[in-house]
Amino acid sequence: MTYSASAPGKVILFGEHAVVFGEPAIAAALDLRTRVDATESDTPRINGVPLRQETNPYPYHALSVTGSRSMSLTIDSDVPPGAGLGSSAALSVAAVGALGKDYSDAEVAESAFSVELLAQGRASPIDTSVSTHGRAIYVDRNGGSGLLWSVRRGDVTWHIHHVDVPAMDIVVGFTGISAATGPLVENVRRLHSKYSTARNAVVEIGTIAAEARRRLSTGDVVGLGSLMDRNQKLLVTLGVSSREIGSLIDAVRPYSYGAKLTGAGGGGSIISLTDRPERVAEAIAKRGFTPFICKLGGEGLRRENDG
Ligand code: PMV
Repeated sequence: MTYSASAPGKVILFGEHAVVFGEPAIAAALDLRTRVDATESDTPRINGVPLRQETNPYPYHALSVTGSRSMSLTIDSDVPPGAGLGSSAALSVAAVGALGKDYSDAEVAESAFSVELLAQGRASPIDTSVSTHGRAIYVDRNGGSGLLWSVRRGDVTWHIHHVDVPAMDIVVGFTGISAATGPLVENVRRLHSKYSTARNAVVEIGTIAAEARRRLSTGDVVGLGSLMDRNQKLLVTLGVSSREIGSLIDAVRPYSYGAKLTGAGGGGSIISLTDRPERVAEAIAKRGFTPFICKLGGEGLRRENDG
Protein backbone atom coordinates (compact mmCIF):
# COMPACT_ATOMS: atom_id res chain seq x y z
CA MET A 1 0.00 0.00 0.00
CA THR A 2 1.36 3.46 -0.91
CA TYR A 3 0.25 6.68 0.77
CA SER A 4 1.15 9.90 -1.04
CA ALA A 5 1.09 13.53 0.01
CA SER A 6 2.53 16.80 -1.22
CA ALA A 7 3.10 20.18 0.42
CA PRO A 8 4.38 23.59 -0.75
CA GLY A 9 7.44 25.69 -0.03
CA LYS A 10 6.94 29.19 1.32
CA VAL A 11 8.23 32.72 1.66
CA ILE A 12 8.18 34.66 4.90
CA LEU A 13 6.88 38.12 4.01
CA PHE A 14 7.43 39.67 7.45
CA GLY A 15 8.71 38.63 10.87
CA GLU A 16 11.28 35.81 10.49
CA HIS A 17 13.47 35.28 13.56
CA ALA A 18 11.22 37.51 15.74
CA VAL A 19 8.49 34.85 15.35
CA VAL A 20 10.68 32.37 17.25
CA PHE A 21 10.16 34.64 20.30
CA GLY A 22 6.39 34.72 19.71
CA GLU A 23 6.22 38.01 17.74
CA PRO A 24 3.75 38.33 14.82
CA ALA A 25 4.81 37.19 11.33
CA ILE A 26 3.29 36.59 7.88
CA ALA A 27 4.14 33.78 5.45
CA ALA A 28 2.71 32.70 2.10
CA ALA A 29 2.84 29.33 0.34
CA LEU A 30 4.51 29.05 -3.07
CA ASP A 31 3.50 27.01 -6.09
CA LEU A 32 6.67 24.86 -5.70
CA ARG A 33 5.93 21.50 -4.04
CA THR A 34 7.52 18.46 -2.37
CA ARG A 35 5.89 15.05 -2.90
CA VAL A 36 6.35 12.02 -0.66
CA ASP A 37 5.22 8.44 -1.34
CA ALA A 38 5.24 6.22 1.75
CA THR A 39 5.31 2.44 1.23
CA GLU A 40 5.43 -0.39 3.77
CA SER A 41 8.84 -2.10 3.87
CA ASP A 42 10.96 -4.16 6.30
CA THR A 43 13.93 -1.76 6.17
CA PRO A 44 13.15 1.97 5.96
CA ARG A 45 14.70 3.50 2.84
CA ILE A 46 14.76 7.02 1.41
CA ASN A 47 14.73 7.05 -2.38
CA GLY A 48 16.04 3.47 -2.26
CA VAL A 49 18.93 4.16 0.15
CA PRO A 50 18.78 2.80 3.75
CA LEU A 51 17.58 5.55 6.12
CA ARG A 52 20.21 7.18 8.36
CA GLN A 53 19.47 9.96 10.84
CA GLU A 54 22.64 11.87 9.91
CA THR A 55 21.86 12.09 6.19
CA ASN A 56 18.04 12.25 6.35
CA PRO A 57 17.13 13.94 9.65
CA TYR A 58 13.67 15.16 8.54
CA PRO A 59 12.40 11.79 7.21
CA TYR A 60 14.03 10.05 10.19
CA HIS A 61 12.12 12.19 12.69
CA ALA A 62 8.93 12.09 10.60
CA LEU A 63 8.96 8.29 10.92
CA SER A 64 9.58 8.44 14.68
CA VAL A 65 7.07 11.23 15.43
CA THR A 66 4.30 9.36 13.55
CA GLY A 67 5.35 5.98 15.02
CA SER A 68 5.86 4.51 11.51
CA ARG A 69 8.86 2.20 11.85
CA SER A 70 8.55 0.04 8.77
CA MET A 71 7.93 2.53 5.98
CA SER A 72 10.10 3.67 3.09
CA LEU A 73 9.77 7.11 1.52
CA THR A 74 10.25 8.29 -2.04
CA ILE A 75 10.79 12.05 -2.14
CA ASP A 76 10.60 14.35 -5.12
CA SER A 77 10.78 18.14 -4.75
CA ASP A 78 10.78 21.31 -6.80
CA VAL A 79 11.58 23.47 -3.74
CA PRO A 80 15.29 24.41 -3.98
CA PRO A 81 17.05 23.25 -0.78
CA GLY A 82 18.85 25.80 1.41
CA ALA A 83 17.27 28.77 -0.39
CA GLY A 84 15.13 29.90 2.58
CA LEU A 85 12.04 28.73 0.71
CA GLY A 86 10.91 26.16 3.26
CA SER A 87 12.19 22.96 1.65
CA SER A 88 12.57 21.21 5.02
CA ALA A 89 9.08 22.22 6.16
CA ALA A 90 7.55 21.07 2.86
CA LEU A 91 9.34 17.73 3.30
CA SER A 92 8.29 17.39 6.96
CA VAL A 93 4.65 18.24 6.18
CA ALA A 94 4.44 15.97 3.13
CA ALA A 95 6.12 13.10 5.03
CA VAL A 96 3.87 13.47 8.10
CA GLY A 97 0.85 13.88 5.79
CA ALA A 98 1.68 10.63 3.97
CA LEU A 99 2.58 8.68 7.13
CA GLY A 100 -0.19 10.07 9.35
CA LYS A 101 -2.91 9.45 6.82
CA ASP A 102 -5.72 10.08 9.33
CA TYR A 103 -4.20 13.23 10.83
CA SER A 104 -6.13 16.50 10.63
CA ASP A 105 -4.29 19.54 9.25
CA ALA A 106 -3.76 20.81 12.81
CA GLU A 107 -2.22 17.44 13.78
CA VAL A 108 0.03 17.43 10.70
CA ALA A 109 1.20 20.99 11.45
CA GLU A 110 1.88 20.11 15.11
CA SER A 111 3.77 16.88 14.28
CA ALA A 112 5.73 18.42 11.41
CA PHE A 113 6.79 21.20 13.80
CA SER A 114 8.07 18.52 16.21
CA VAL A 115 10.04 17.05 13.29
CA GLU A 116 11.63 20.46 12.60
CA LEU A 117 12.49 20.99 16.27
CA LEU A 118 14.12 17.56 16.51
CA ALA A 119 16.06 18.01 13.27
CA GLN A 120 17.01 21.68 13.68
CA GLY A 121 16.86 22.75 17.35
CA ARG A 122 15.06 26.04 18.02
CA ALA A 123 12.31 26.99 15.56
CA SER A 124 8.84 28.51 15.27
CA PRO A 125 5.89 26.68 13.67
CA ILE A 126 5.52 29.28 10.89
CA ASP A 127 7.05 27.19 8.07
CA THR A 128 5.26 23.94 8.87
CA SER A 129 1.94 25.73 9.45
CA VAL A 130 1.98 27.66 6.16
CA SER A 131 3.07 24.53 4.29
CA THR A 132 0.13 22.62 5.81
CA HIS A 133 -2.52 25.32 5.37
CA GLY A 134 -1.21 26.76 2.08
CA ARG A 135 -2.42 30.19 0.93
CA ALA A 136 -1.04 32.55 3.61
CA ILE A 137 -0.93 32.71 7.38
CA TYR A 138 -0.56 35.34 10.08
CA VAL A 139 1.09 34.18 13.30
CA ASP A 140 0.35 36.07 16.50
CA ARG A 141 0.62 35.56 20.24
CA ASN A 142 -3.16 36.18 20.52
CA GLY A 143 -5.94 34.24 18.82
CA GLY A 144 -8.32 36.28 16.65
CA SER A 145 -10.46 36.07 13.54
CA GLY A 146 -9.35 33.41 11.04
CA LEU A 147 -7.72 31.27 13.77
CA LEU A 148 -6.69 27.87 12.34
CA TRP A 149 -4.82 26.26 15.24
CA SER A 150 -2.46 27.07 18.09
CA VAL A 151 0.93 25.57 18.84
CA ARG A 152 2.64 25.73 22.23
CA ARG A 153 6.21 24.95 23.22
CA GLY A 154 7.61 25.97 26.62
CA ASP A 155 6.32 29.43 27.48
CA VAL A 156 5.57 30.49 23.87
CA THR A 157 2.19 29.94 22.19
CA TRP A 158 1.78 30.70 18.50
CA HIS A 159 -1.75 31.24 17.18
CA ILE A 160 -1.92 30.49 13.46
CA HIS A 161 -4.49 32.43 11.40
CA HIS A 162 -5.53 32.34 7.79
CA VAL A 163 -4.84 35.66 6.06
CA ASP A 164 -5.83 36.78 2.57
CA VAL A 165 -2.97 38.06 0.46
CA PRO A 166 -3.93 40.17 -2.56
CA ALA A 167 -2.44 39.29 -5.97
CA MET A 168 1.05 40.78 -5.71
CA ASP A 169 4.20 40.26 -7.75
CA ILE A 170 6.98 38.85 -5.64
CA VAL A 171 10.38 38.00 -7.07
CA VAL A 172 12.76 35.78 -5.12
CA GLY A 173 16.50 36.23 -5.60
CA PHE A 174 18.60 33.28 -4.41
CA THR A 175 22.18 34.07 -3.34
CA GLY A 176 23.24 30.50 -4.16
CA ILE A 177 24.50 30.20 -0.58
CA SER A 178 22.80 27.69 1.71
CA ALA A 179 23.11 28.70 5.33
CA ALA A 180 21.81 26.29 7.99
CA THR A 181 18.83 27.75 9.86
CA GLY A 182 19.67 26.25 13.29
CA PRO A 183 22.92 28.17 13.96
CA LEU A 184 21.41 31.47 12.70
CA VAL A 185 18.43 31.08 15.05
CA GLU A 186 20.78 30.19 17.90
CA ASN A 187 22.93 33.26 17.25
CA VAL A 188 19.86 35.52 17.38
CA ARG A 189 18.91 33.88 20.70
CA ARG A 190 22.39 34.70 22.04
CA LEU A 191 22.17 38.36 20.90
CA HIS A 192 18.63 38.61 22.31
CA SER A 193 19.73 37.37 25.73
CA LYS A 194 22.71 39.79 25.82
CA TYR A 195 21.71 43.05 24.14
CA SER A 196 18.70 45.36 24.48
CA THR A 197 19.22 46.51 20.84
CA ALA A 198 18.49 42.94 19.71
CA ARG A 199 15.48 42.65 22.05
CA ASN A 200 14.12 45.98 20.75
CA ALA A 201 14.68 44.86 17.13
CA VAL A 202 12.67 41.68 17.76
CA VAL A 203 9.74 43.65 19.22
CA GLU A 204 9.83 46.21 16.40
CA ILE A 205 9.80 43.46 13.77
CA GLY A 206 6.63 42.14 15.42
CA THR A 207 5.05 45.62 15.28
CA ILE A 208 5.94 45.83 11.57
CA ALA A 209 4.35 42.43 10.85
CA ALA A 210 1.14 43.45 12.65
CA GLU A 211 1.03 46.69 10.62
CA ALA A 212 1.71 44.73 7.41
CA ARG A 213 -1.34 42.56 8.09
CA ARG A 214 -3.53 45.69 8.08
CA ARG A 215 -1.91 46.93 4.85
CA LEU A 216 -2.36 43.53 3.17
CA SER A 217 -6.10 43.83 3.71
CA THR A 218 -6.16 47.08 1.72
CA GLY A 219 -3.57 45.98 -0.87
CA ASP A 220 -1.34 48.97 -0.03
CA VAL A 221 1.81 47.87 -1.89
CA VAL A 222 3.63 51.17 -1.29
CA GLY A 223 3.10 50.89 2.47
CA LEU A 224 4.01 47.18 2.43
CA GLY A 225 7.20 47.94 0.52
CA SER A 226 8.40 50.49 3.06
CA LEU A 227 7.57 48.05 5.89
CA MET A 228 9.71 45.44 4.09
CA ASP A 229 12.63 47.90 3.98
CA ARG A 230 12.26 48.63 7.71
CA ASN A 231 12.05 44.90 8.48
CA GLN A 232 15.26 44.32 6.51
CA LYS A 233 17.19 46.99 8.49
CA LEU A 234 16.19 45.25 11.73
CA LEU A 235 17.28 41.87 10.36
CA VAL A 236 20.69 43.48 9.68
CA THR A 237 20.74 44.52 13.37
CA LEU A 238 20.08 40.87 14.29
CA GLY A 239 23.15 39.84 12.28
CA VAL A 240 21.35 37.56 9.81
CA SER A 241 21.93 39.55 6.61
CA SER A 242 25.06 39.10 4.48
CA ARG A 243 27.11 40.84 1.78
CA GLU A 244 25.30 38.86 -0.96
CA ILE A 245 21.88 39.72 0.47
CA GLY A 246 22.91 43.40 0.54
CA SER A 247 24.10 43.20 -3.06
CA LEU A 248 20.81 41.60 -4.18
CA ILE A 249 18.77 44.24 -2.36
CA ASP A 250 20.80 47.04 -3.96
CA ALA A 251 20.22 45.44 -7.38
CA VAL A 252 16.42 45.24 -7.05
CA ARG A 253 15.82 48.47 -5.12
CA PRO A 254 15.30 50.76 -8.19
CA TYR A 255 12.41 48.54 -9.42
CA SER A 256 10.87 47.51 -6.08
CA TYR A 257 8.35 48.87 -3.59
CA GLY A 258 10.54 47.17 -0.98
CA ALA A 259 12.89 44.23 -0.49
CA LYS A 260 14.18 42.09 2.35
CA LEU A 261 15.75 38.75 3.04
CA THR A 262 13.27 35.90 3.50
CA GLY A 263 13.72 32.96 5.86
CA ALA A 264 16.74 32.48 8.06
CA GLY A 265 19.19 34.65 6.05
CA GLY A 266 22.97 34.28 6.24
CA GLY A 267 22.69 33.55 2.50
CA GLY A 268 19.44 32.06 1.26
CA SER A 269 17.12 34.43 -0.60
CA ILE A 270 15.65 37.90 -0.77
CA ILE A 271 12.15 38.89 -1.85
CA SER A 272 11.22 41.99 -3.82
CA LEU A 273 7.70 43.41 -3.95
CA THR A 274 7.37 44.96 -7.39
CA ASP A 275 5.11 45.80 -10.29
CA ARG A 276 8.02 45.08 -12.69
CA PRO A 277 8.84 41.42 -11.99
CA GLU A 278 10.68 40.85 -15.29
CA ARG A 279 12.89 43.90 -14.67
CA VAL A 280 13.68 42.73 -11.13
CA ALA A 281 14.46 39.20 -12.35
CA GLU A 282 16.83 40.67 -14.93
CA ALA A 283 18.60 42.81 -12.30
CA ILE A 284 19.06 39.72 -10.10
CA ALA A 285 20.42 37.62 -12.98
CA LYS A 286 22.79 40.45 -14.04
CA ARG A 287 24.52 40.20 -10.64
CA GLY A 288 24.95 36.45 -11.14
CA PHE A 289 22.15 35.37 -8.76
CA THR A 290 19.10 33.19 -9.47
CA PRO A 291 15.64 34.82 -9.79
CA PHE A 292 12.27 33.08 -9.34
CA ILE A 293 9.11 35.00 -10.22
CA CYS A 294 6.67 33.62 -7.67
CA LYS A 295 3.00 33.04 -7.39
CA LEU A 296 1.90 33.35 -3.78
CA GLY A 297 -0.91 31.45 -2.15
CA GLY A 298 -0.10 27.89 -3.25
CA GLU A 299 -2.31 25.00 -2.13
CA GLY A 300 -1.41 23.46 1.24
CA LEU A 301 -1.10 19.78 2.18
CA ARG A 302 -2.66 17.57 -0.45
CA ARG A 303 -3.07 13.82 -0.06
CA GLU A 304 -2.53 12.65 -3.59
CA ASN A 305 -4.32 9.32 -3.13
CA ASP A 306 -5.19 7.01 -0.33
CA GLY A 307 -3.53 3.73 -1.25
O1 PMV B 1 15.27 28.80 7.03
P1 PMV B 1 13.81 28.99 6.79
O2 PMV B 1 13.45 29.53 5.51
O3 PMV B 1 13.05 27.77 7.15
O4 PMV B 1 13.30 30.15 7.80
C1 PMV B 1 13.28 29.98 9.15
C2 PMV B 1 12.49 31.11 9.77
C3 PMV B 1 13.01 31.50 11.13
O5 PMV B 1 12.11 32.47 11.66
C4 PMV B 1 14.40 32.10 11.03
C5 PMV B 1 13.09 30.30 12.07
C6 PMV B 1 11.72 29.74 12.44
O6 PMV B 1 11.64 28.54 12.71
O7 PMV B 1 10.74 30.50 12.51
